[in-house]
Amino acid sequence: QIQQTITHGIRFASDPDTRLSEMPAFGDIITADQIAQVSAYVASLSGKVRDASLIQPGAKVFAEDCVACHGDNAKGNREFGAPDLTDAIWLYGSGETAIAAQVRAPKQGVMPAWVGRLGEIKVKELAVYVHSLGGGE
Ligand code: HEC
Repeated sequence: QIQQTITHGIRFASDPDTRLSEMPAFGDIITADQIAQVSAYVASLSGKVRDASLIQPGAKVFAEDCVACHGDNAKGNREFGAPDLTDAIWLYGSGETAIAAQVRAPKQGVMPAWVGRLGEIKVKELAVYVHSLGGGE
């Protein structure tokens, strides 16, 4: 899987085999109140929350709009490239403000395809190296 990612990149428009997964912009789908609620709920999964009264309604929004990609328990889903929202690893920031920004108008990170520049052997070597950094999880 790592080799595939390095070879074809992520959302790299000029590679037909690039990984594609897109979080919808919920700013157009749910209300500002619901965004505040669901952001508080997600922050609460890491023990960080300013207003505890938002957690319960936020869990409901999460169940309706987010579980399809991030999973029932918010542990993420590799098939969709949807990250675990309960761990300490954040692509775009862990605070309620950063979470709300991602929910409203998501960043869609892009990684270029490297096989053209590095060749298959170097990509394989890199995949083994990257796996060694955390492949055992
Ligand atoms: C269609 C699938 C999909 C749905 C539905 C979805 N997400 Fe996402 N989400 C993603 C993907 C894919 C990413 C990773 C974006 C990237 O790689 O740049 C992501 C990233 C995130 C992040 C950033 C995590 C980080 O590490 O910084 C947060 C927060 C988040 N989603 C919350 C939500 C919430 C809350 C909802 C429901 C309102 C939701 N998502 C619904 C697919 C989805």
